[in-house]
Amino acid sequence: MDEEEILERNQFEELIQGLIEHKYGCSDEFISPNTVKGLRKEIQRLSESGKLKLAGVGNAFDIKQSKEIRGDKINWIQENSTNPFEVIYLKKVGKFIEHLNKTCFTSIKSFESHYSNYEKRSFYTRHLDQFKSEKGRKFSIIVYLNTEWNENDGGMLSLYPDKGVPQNISPIGGRIVFFRSDEMEHEVHPSFTKERKSIAAWFKN
Ligand code: OGA
Ligand code: MN
Repeated sequence: MDEEEILERNQFEELIQGLIEHKYGCSDEFISPNTVKGLRKEIQRLSESGKLKLAGVGNAFDIKQSKEIRGDKINWIQENSTNPFEVIYLKKVGKFIEHLNKTCFTSIKSFESHYSNYEKRSFYTRHLDQFKSEKGRKFSIIVYLNTEWNENDGGMLSLYPDKGVPQNISPIGGRIVFFRSDEMEHEVHPSFTKERKSIAAWFKN
């Protein structure tokens, strides 16, 4: 194994250990600053060309309703993307899944990812990522694409581990958060100062 692979392995282990010990894993620089920059540029381009859509809504009534639950705009990342930064992202997540399957017998077969952009003051109320219609979602990850972020920007992710102490996580660029989709309730608080950008993904079996 070369140095890069050892670093990567340690990161994967950090995430898995976190999950085992306190029901969530968190690791910084999962994605390198240069790749974060490339991915941020892409979500910016999608945003400016009107390609980000309110998540999971059909008609006008639903839009109003669902904005009180969830205000982010999304765009799915294609599995066969040729955007070099998306390719790097997809490869790294693929390797993490390979490691997870090998060491934890998780039998994850695929994953789906979307960009998420929260405009100022939009939020996502407390929820689980596994819906009745989405039983296939086993694990959730979120990778953040923001430059500079501090407490008074808001936009924290709150995790509510069962019987554990709630945790607040800042959406710092390159950071990844990892938890079980059917078990970890979580919430995105409104950001006050700027848009909040991320990629959310789900591992499925
Ligand atoms: C989601 C979600 C959390 C975040 O997209 O389901 O909970 O920190 N995202 O962006
Ligand atoms: Mn969620």
